[in-house]
Amino acid sequence: MLTKTIKFPPLGDQRGHLVALEANKTVPFEIKRVYYLFGTKPGVSRGFHAHKDLKQVAIAVRGSCRFVLKDGKNEESIILSDSTTGLLIESAVWREMYDFSEDCVLLVLASEHYDEADYIRNYQEFLEFMNEKN
Ligand code: TYD
Repeated sequence: MLTKTIKFPPLGDQRGHLVALEANKTVPFEIKRVYYLFGTKPGVSRGFHAHKDLKQVAIAVRGSCRFVLKDGKNEESIILSDSTTGLLIESAVWREMYDFSEDCVLLVLASEHYDEADYIRNYQEFLEFMNEKN
């Protein structure tokens, strides 16, 4: 399974919802970076890359979007539309993001600081990387 989801325990009460994200607990790595995508224009797709080492957890804290994950052999698609569910994207997984709702706020937790050298942005290179790895 390429698609690994994490259900965050709901800590809300009659006042409303609350979700806590804790490094090495609900999130299975040390969080070094947090970023969020919002205001994604209609019809825009993003991603189209893999990371050699970086792991990420993506959460649609508002709205929805669709992820396509590939490992060179298998392809899976998942719609994120629930602010209490995170998508764990392991290293060496190609990701593409589609169908952002206008209100989508996609929160991403990353295991490493930003490093362009960790990106594989060419799908052919990704396939070669996976072949060498296996
Ligand atoms: P990019 O990785 O292309 O976004 P996506 O894969 O979601 O389509 O990132 C867009 C730009 O932002 C690119 O120039 C790199 C830069 N960037 C940072 O400087 N720091 C970051 O943490 C991220 C995720 C991107």
